[in-house]
Amino acid sequence: MTQLKVGLEKVYPIYIGGKWSNTKETYPLEFPYNGEVVTNVALATTKEAEEAVDSAISAKKVMAELPLWKRAEILNRAADLLIERQDALAELMVYETGKIFRDTKTEIARSASTLRFAADAARALQGDMIPIDAMKGGEGRLMFTIREPIGVIGAITGFNFPLLLAAHKVGPAIAGGNPTVLKPAPQTPLSSFELARIFEEAGLPKGGLSVITGDVEVGEYLVKHPNVPVISFTGSSEVGKRISEIARYKKVLLELGSNSATIIDKDSNIDYAIDRCVVGGFGASGQSCISVQRVYVHKEYYEEFLERLAAKINNLKIGNPFDEDTDVSTLISFEATSRVSGWVREAVESGARLLAGGEVKGRILEPTLLADVTSDMKVSCEEIFGPVIVVSPFESFTNVVDLVNDSRYGLQTGVFTNNINNAFYAIKNIESGGININEIPSFRADHMPYGGVKDSGIGKEGPKYSLEEMTVEKLVSFRI
Ligand code: SIN
Repeated sequence: MTQLKVGLEKVYPIYIGGKWSNTKETYPLEFPYNGEVVTNVALATTKEAEEAVDSAISAKKVMAELPLWKRAEILNRAADLLIERQDALAELMVYETGKIFRDTKTEIARSASTLRFAADAARALQGDMIPIDAMKGGEGRLMFTIREPIGVIGAITGFNFPLLLAAHKVGPAIAGGNPTVLKPAPQTPLSSFELARIFEEAGLPKGGLSVITGDVEVGEYLVKHPNVPVISFTGSSEVGKRISEIARYKKVLLELGSNSATIIDKDSNIDYAIDRCVVGGFGASGQSCISVQRVYVHKEYYEEFLERLAAKINNLKIGNPFDEDTDVSTLISFEATSRVSGWVREAVESGARLLAGGEVKGRILEPTLLADVTSDMKVSCEEIFGPVIVVSPFESFTNVVDLVNDSRYGLQTGVFTNNINNAFYAIKNIESGGININEIPSFRADHMPYGGVKDSGIGKEGPKYSLEEMTVEKLVSFRI
């Protein structure tokens, strides 16, 4: 079954060691917008996971021996193919995610660019020269390091950016000369299958990438496997913690959740900040780890900010993700919608003011704005992962930084200010993996170091940074 087209197969097979294969069981894949079954997917068990790891182990040598130029060529070719198939692939991704068409197109462009950055990182892969004679007695020696592949990468991805998250794991793995076993989220495996097909066409050796499905047992099999030295995971903090506990001694890279904060200081461009909050709060229906969630506005502008933000939110159009004028569509499942709208209801019952949205229309939660939110409300202290922005006022800049830090998460933070002292105070004191000044927390360029502190994760993504994690620095010492 090597003639898959980008489209909805009756049953999507899994991909192991260069072969597409069916399994005993399948599961239905629903279009989140209306719950219709659009295709079925082969369901892997630990038996197939074992086959996938075995095929990756067999591919280790051929992958390691790929010269850097060849790794870069494969990555760039795969990026070209993603762009050639952008429309068809974007459509497929709308079916699996329920995200709007223009967002899935953007995700494909970002994925292609991520693979190109991985190609660049491959070409620049190098070790260090150690000035060994800087130490007395070091004379007559030569010392340097080389970077070697680390081995099989176990990649487990979330549903929210199914192709991009896979590109951020598979791209650097290939750049480092490693085979990958990829287990996408059960709801969104289709784009990973298509990525595998693209890599096959781009010349990746068999076993260089396998894509399997499966439940928690399959994921844990990968995490515990003694011959999978790296687990790269994107998903919830709860699952990330479990992975870290059971992985024991292996390298675990975790991109986890957040309840990202944005500060709107008194000296800032409010119009610009409002526009950016709308983009960052409702893109992907808020299902991003760096979505605009908690917004703290200086009390001098508080009511004006709320009024103007509510007006913008009320202008957003909800609807079918395939419609060109839809701004916000469904979440990944109706259960997710019910959870988020339940948290909104709870907040309102505890005293928050509902200024926009809040209603579930069909399977879509309207873009929602809550004001006067306190930090103990779930909509504030937990990751909401839905189209909801919660706003609170602040008076002193040092206090608002404390409020931002009063969270178990710390991925990225946005600070709108024209006050240079406050900007530097935020840079120095905010506990998060990244600080965006005069920008929302949701800003991410795919080659920058991206990753959080606290419950938001361990390690950085961005091809150059992942490549370091996915290679081993070997020391070479010469007595001459
Ligand atoms: C994520 O949710 O962690 C990915 C967000 C992005 O890359 O824009």
